[in-house]
Amino acid sequence: MLTADQEIETAEPTNIVIFGVTGDLSKRKLMPALVRMLCCGLVHDDSKIIGIVNNRTEEVWLKLVREGMQEFLPEVVEDENRWKKFLSRLIMVPGDLGDETTYQRLAEALVMLDGKKNAMFYCAIPPDWYGKVTQGLHKVGLANEDEGYRRLVIEKPFGHNLASARALNKELQSVFKEDQIYRIDHYLGKESVQNLLVYRFANSIMEPLWNRNYVDHIQISTAETLGVEYRAKYYEKSGALRDMIQSHLMQMMTLVAMEPPVEFTADAVRDEKMKVLRAIRCIKPEQIKIQTVSAQYASGTLNSENVPAYVTEENVSPDSATETFAAVRFYIDNWRWQGVPFILWTGKRLKSKAAEVMIRFRKPPFNLFDSHASVPAANALIFRLQPEGGVVLRLNAKKPGLTTDNEEMVMRAPYADDAEEVADAYEILMHDVLIGDGTLFSRADEVEASWEIVEPILDAWENRVSIERYRAGTWDIPAMDELTKDCVGGWHKPTIHK
Ligand SMILES: NC(=O)c1ccc[n+]([C@@H]2O[C@H](COP(=O)([O-])OP(=O)(O)OC[C@H]3O[C@@H](n4cnc5c(N)ncnc54)[C@H](OP(=O)(O)O)[C@@H]3O)[C@@H](O)[C@H]2O)c1
Repeated sequence: MLTADQEIETAEPTNIVIFGVTGDLSKRKLMPALVRMLCCGLVHDDSKIIGIVNNRTEEVWLKLVREGMQEFLPEVVEDENRWKKFLSRLIMVPGDLGDETTYQRLAEALVMLDGKKNAMFYCAIPPDWYGKVTQGLHKVGLANEDEGYRRLVIEKPFGHNLASARALNKELQSVFKEDQIYRIDHYLGKESVQNLLVYRFANSIMEPLWNRNYVDHIQISTAETLGVEYRAKYYEKSGALRDMIQSHLMQMMTLVAMEPPVEFTADAVRDEKMKVLRAIRCIKPEQIKIQTVSAQYASGTLNSENVPAYVTEENVSPDSATETFAAVRFYIDNWRWQGVPFILWTGKRLKSKAAEVMIRFRKPPFNLFDSHASVPAANALIFRLQPEGGVVLRLNAKKPGLTTDNEEMVMRAPYADDAEEVADAYEILMHDVLIGDGTLFSRADEVEASWEIVEPILDAWENRVSIERYRAGTWDIPAMDELTKDCVGGWHKPTIHK
């Protein structure tokens, strides 16, 4: 968690308005993050949290808040002082999102909180409502920044294809200026993702190697052991490509591939990310079979337990062809990365769980120790983003003994020894919104560019009636070996780095 003794910019008093305060995201992430931020002064003491609540009395809502906190941050409920302090910040505004009087009541409530005119509007609601809420705020003058800042936060998905992403951006920008809009990608809030930037730009040994002369290929991945869980209704329409690759993984690719920005500010960083997106080679329809992989989990065994096939999960159609595994091999047509494959892949119900960025370097040009049995492996630099953050460098070293045989030596640097020191992504990102720093948020043009890049793949996969299957709890996806067969080391599956 963030701590107040770190030198962090203090936020101004702000009214934090949460649409969807009774939903899953608010319960699991937003409310616990806000409590922690309040406790250590990262949210100014004069700030309030205003929940828009539908069809419930204040008593019922507060009971829900307590139950949620009991589940996700019990130490706060058990500490009477902290709990009372938190409760004193909560204000409820009743109403339906589709009802104009809800916004009227919200405006009146904000007027009552005199002297605290800044407001952050957090949309933790189904995306279909973003436009309506934006218009509702506009009609009662709440997007207007005459008396303090007004910032709108939205959660992904930002559209489900290029046309809907453009329409959404247009709708939001008809009310809010682009610098008032914060599109959250919680992956970018992870400390270990930001650490990747620090490793790149605070170490002079990295930059000379960070290009086509030394890098064979890069794999950016998230492997999950979980299945679709309770998200099937959404996932059936989304699939792995939309859910992970178009958003989180492409965002990470831009951070890995971008040129050093001239300064660490929102637009300087996002301008560089945008240049990467513009340089990604378009995948033509005839290349889709060669440059992409899609598959769906069948039943299998994980941790000695039988797990069901995707098609038998609740709310999944029995003849669903939705992909639970997706991979795309991209190329970036620019001076630095020409010819280097960037393989982005993600899947559910795989054998192990990890999110990683793996930079595989070229093989040594010549094996000096050729007379001996062991051939040096190509070096790899691996940024482990989760479950535990850290950096791993795989080098070759001499095997102890009388020969020059070599073996792989793994240098591992955990990101933080003490889990307490690692801030939750939502704490980091909400604090960034409060201080007006948009560096870790996606800009409208980035969102549209990434949809444009994946759209040919979406189109090709749209009306398929069947899909390859892989056994849950395995890496049994032959097409992935094919996709990576000319890459040094092949498909990199995450392992436990000892
Ligand atoms: N959950 C996650 O981990 C997660 C992760 C990434 C992104 N997201 C995104 O975050 C957003 C919220 O997700 P969620 O999982 O929290 O959804 P959820 O559990 O379904 O919650 C939706 C919230 O919106 C409220 N709502 C819906 N229609 C309303 C209406 N007409 N009037 C007033 N309130 C209304 C619901 O109120 P009621 O309780 O009254 O129904 C509830 O509080 C979505 O855009 C989702 O894609 C979620």
